[in-house]
Amino acid sequence: MRKIEFFDTTLRDGEQTPGVSFSIAEKVAIAKQLEKWGISVIEAGFPAASPDSFEAVRQISETLQKTAVTGLARCVISDIDCAVEAVRKAKHPQIHVFIATSPIHMEYKLKMTPDEVLETINKCVKYARERIEIVEFSPEDATRTEPDFLLKAVQTAVDAGATYINIPDTVGYTTPEEYAKIFKMLIENIKSERKIIFSPHCHDDLGMAVANSLAAIKAGAGRVEGTVNGIGERAGNAALEEIAVALHIREDFYEANSPLQLSETVNTAALVSQFSGIAIPKNKAVVGKNAFAHESGIHQDGVLKNAQTYEIITPELVGIFHNSLPLGKLSGRHAFMNKLSTLGIPYDDSEINELFARFKALADKKKEITDADIHALVSGHTIKN
Ligand code: KIV
Ligand code: ZN
Repeated sequence: MRKIEFFDTTLRDGEQTPGVSFSIAEKVAIAKQLEKWGISVIEAGFPAASPDSFEAVRQISETLQKTAVTGLARCVISDIDCAVEAVRKAKHPQIHVFIATSPIHMEYKLKMTPDEVLETINKCVKYARERIEIVEFSPEDATRTEPDFLLKAVQTAVDAGATYINIPDTVGYTTPEEYAKIFKMLIENIKSERKIIFSPHCHDDLGMAVANSLAAIKAGAGRVEGTVNGIGERAGNAALEEIAVALHIREDFYEANSPLQLSETVNTAALVSQFSGIAIPKNKAVVGKNAFAHESGIHQDGVLKNAQTYEIITPELVGIFHNSLPLGKLSGRHAFMNKLSTLGIPYDDSEINELFARFKALADKKKEITDADIHALVSGHTIKN
């Protein structure tokens, strides 16, 4: 079974979420939790971006014991020097250098010819590799890059010493089938005597970041990049917790798994939500409040008989104690009686029809029925919305 390396960029790409700015102390606290979760590599920031970004990467590098720490650098010598200095004290330092390779980025943003971009990749990856053993290279906007030029850019980076090749879907443009084809093409054609590891890095503009990441893993990627809760620039990045749980549940299909301690998933998601100020949507996969809640009568009855009827993920797997059966107008008698028992309210069979009818009448008026509502209903009172 392949173990996929998990590369977390919550503190770098995640911090590019509009309105999000972590303090250094918050970054260190998140990094510690990511290490506890079992993340393989943390991209702790973009050290050349500001003194605080540098300081956060430096402190995280000094703090972590098991997890590797990397810093982002443009293909610019001063950026690389800054990133090397920031991760210098890490137990397992890495460097991540990038430059755009798509026609639109080269022409309008970089104002460089394709040959100049190739020369820059060669020079900067070599420069980084002379200073740090493990270098990742990213051809930014890879999914809108001409395939032949992408192959040349990646081969140049590999020849210059890169070990990891990250293929960013910078603008969330690709589809699972197309992205898998890019990975297969690179894996089949890149020549190296060293083992080269490829990784997806997906943005969610078309809502396919997680699906695209999984397609790349299926196509042979050995590392995956993303953020906690999928926070990030625009529509965000691929949500690592979703990828990890998908691999766990569908290990049979992906023939790969994550190194994560999945029972720390909810704690990690809650910490990032608290410090980022970005609430987790209730219906979010894996960590949303409703992910383990069943409201309709048919589902509640099924879950009470055997949870697997409507749950493919156990709440315990991701660190929640139990599922919930919120009572509402679609709830059935089985869930209602279960609630009475949980609340320790004694009832006898002759009363149940009358109590259930009162509950249904109340549920028609009130969206969510609380425990206090149930107590009031049994004692003959009702609580207004
Ligand atoms: O999305 C992107 O292209 C990036 C690169 C810097 C890797 O975040
Ligand atoms: Zn990105």
